[in-house]
Amino acid sequence: MIILGIESSCDESAAAVVETPCRVLSNSVSSQIALHGPYGGVVPEIACREHVRALPTVIADAIAQAGIGWESIDAVAVTYGPGLASSLLVGLASAKALSLRLDVPLVAVNHLQGHLFSPFLSPGMPDPAAVCPFVSLIVSGGHTCLVRVDAPGRCELLGQTIDDAAGEAFDKGANLLGLGYPGGPALDRLAREGDPRYVRFPRGRVDAKSWTGGLDPRFCFSFSGLKTALRYYLEAFPLAPDGGQRLRDVAASYQEAIVEALLRRVTDAMEACGTGMLAVGGGVSLNSRLRGILASTLAREGRQLLLTAPAYCGDNAAMIAAVAGLGLGGRGEAVAARDVCPNLSVLEAY
Ligand code: KG4
Ligand code: ZN
Repeated sequence: MIILGIESSCDESAAAVVETPCRVLSNSVSSQIALHGPYGGVVPEIACREHVRALPTVIADAIAQAGIGWESIDAVAVTYGPGLASSLLVGLASAKALSLRLDVPLVAVNHLQGHLFSPFLSPGMPDPAAVCPFVSLIVSGGHTCLVRVDAPGRCELLGQTIDDAAGEAFDKGANLLGLGYPGGPALDRLAREGDPRYVRFPRGRVDAKSWTGGLDPRFCFSFSGLKTALRYYLEAFPLAPDGGQRLRDVAASYQEAIVEALLRRVTDAMEACGTGMLAVGGGVSLNSRLRGILASTLAREGRQLLLTAPAYCGDNAAMIAAVAGLGLGGRGEAVAARDVCPNLSVLEAY
């Protein structure tokens, strides 16, 4: 089957064509970062209007790059949550219209399941069903969670952040360091030339008394205190106007606190689940220190790591089409009548 995927949950307008289960024929993404940068974050009204403008071009691009005609499309898959309501609406309305016009099924996909299966989009990757059970770490701008995957459609949420997401921690820390928006990539670059042991920032342990919604605190994250710790540190020890080497050292130390917190939870979760396989996806999985430390630690322990290829770490539609290609997502008449779901949780599906 040939599936057209559409993604518009935040500030990326994306379309892709995937052959079942996970072979990417095209992947077209139009980023809005330049439009939101001056505001220091995503402005929902701007994002929604930009999706209206960009999606038709991005969809036409995806079809052209795949070298197929409209008549080859067997289904349209679209993100219906979580994300910004007005942004999601543009994608869902476009997908509904296309599925009616092409007379093919509409598949409603949970964006987080897209990140969960994104490692399997690269050529040569195994079939997800063949490597179950595995642990998945999803690290993005809005979410941070650990999931045990027993089969593509049978997953259990092990833990998640109780406050900020890892990407938010990167962006807020980068903002305090004057690195602009989104600051994650800039902080990553600066940190490569810094000393990660320069300042010891808190690792955000979650104790049993914290709110975890019944999840095991060992697998939950807390990043809001880290950003406050950086703010207090900078008030006590201000950086020179040009930043200099100290800026690099503080950036590296801050990044290290996030990366170590992720690493600790991941190894505990793999231990508890008795699995030797970890899959990692989401925008923060582009972080070079996180990729490096996961690769060396897991290799040392004789465990296997499936990292998402850089092209599929950020928001994209290939991962949305792949979820439909794996037979997941909502289908049928109820889906055509369904609205967007901005607060959808990681494992929630039709
Ligand atoms: O998955 P994504 O593209 O969008 C969401 O679904 O949220 O993730 C975006 C997040 C942003 O917070 C961005 O700063 C972060 O991923 N990010 C990074 C890096 N590249 C992107 N964080 C740390 N290091 C990076 N290299
Ligand atoms: Zn995302």
